[in-house]
Amino acid sequence: MQKRVLSGIRATGRLHLGNYLGAVKGMLELQSDPNYETFYMVADLHAITTPYDPKTLASNTREVIIDYLAIGIDPEKSTIFIQSQIPEHTELSYLFSTAVTVARMQHLPTFKEKVKQHPENVSMALLYYPVLMAADILIYKASLVPVGVDQEPHLEVSREIAGKLNERFKLDFPEPQRFATKGEYIPSLVGEGKMSKSVEGSFINLNDDLETIKKRLAAAPTDSGQGESVPSKGGVATLLKFVELFQGAGKCAEYEKAYTGDGIRYGDLKNGLAQAIFEELTPIQEKRKELEANPEYVDKVITEGAQKARQVASQTLQEVKTAMGLGR
Ligand code: ADP
Ligand code: TRP
Repeated sequence: MQKRVLSGIRATGRLHLGNYLGAVKGMLELQSDPNYETFYMVADLHAITTPYDPKTLASNTREVIIDYLAIGIDPEKSTIFIQSQIPEHTELSYLFSTAVTVARMQHLPTFKEKVKQHPENVSMALLYYPVLMAADILIYKASLVPVGVDQEPHLEVSREIAGKLNERFKLDFPEPQRFATKGEYIPSLVGEGKMSKSVEGSFINLNDDLETIKKRLAAAPTDSGQGESVPSKGGVATLLKFVELFQGAGKCAEYEKAYTGDGIRYGDLKNGLAQAIFEELTPIQEKRKELEANPEYVDKVITEGAQKARQVASQTLQEVKTAMGLGR
């Protein structure tokens, strides 16, 4: 039997290289593997757990759907949908919340980080974030979740919930594992922390043109280009990681050798790298233009995706309600 896969990205704007390399590339890989049935959503309900603008939420959600399609997520192979259109997710998350403690949620590093970022907006929804995410995954009984390494604490919660419910109510949830890509952690271009849309200067967007990519890379901090050993942290390490991902391990090894030898010329490195990134993004940007000119097609994908997702979701929800004593 095919195993199920689920992943999602919050509807908070256009995608950047971190999302693409850490999450979407894994989604693509699993979509083309016949052993898996893939479900990919846009997490609009998770987008409202931090301050947001209701006027742009729907368009941001649609942008992520279009980015998925432009990158190659294929509605013939994957079920593509919008989280809030499947109300079963929220209902299941309430049932799941009986199996987790408030203290456990408060101690998650992801929660603590958000509290630091938005101390005025520590809502119940924010505390609930991992519970809803567990419902997103387990409602499809997904055993594999392609996401970046930062999402691991949330998957841990999903596994705990699955285990507890299986034990208490004789259910058969899988304990979902993360599917890691080579880009599971994309560092920030500013040389510290991860690439993230909330840190200005840290990212390259999927829709950036060559000039913009060059400008963003130019701002990455470097050193003299020469030394006894290649730095494992900071701007130089970030640039070499990108060289490895976009130009291959061979090219990366060449630069590493140059670092301990004659030295790296960062101007040349950044130029070649910008070209390579732009080449990978060009077909995605072209496909996006076609999709923007065809809104009916995008609407159809969203409607059909919701229908397919709902069939599976409503079945699981009914099973859980019955097992928990809430059946007819
Ligand atoms: P952001 O941190 O920019 O707000 P999200 O939290 O919306 O991004 O992440 C969406 C998906 O992209 C998740 O699967 C996440 O793990 C992945 N992701 C985000 N940033 C990175 C990164 N720098 N490296 C690897 N994966 C990432
Ligand atoms: N928390 C994920 C993020 O920040 C988004 C998300 C919501 C998700 N529900 C999910 C990812 C279910 C994988 C599976 O990117």
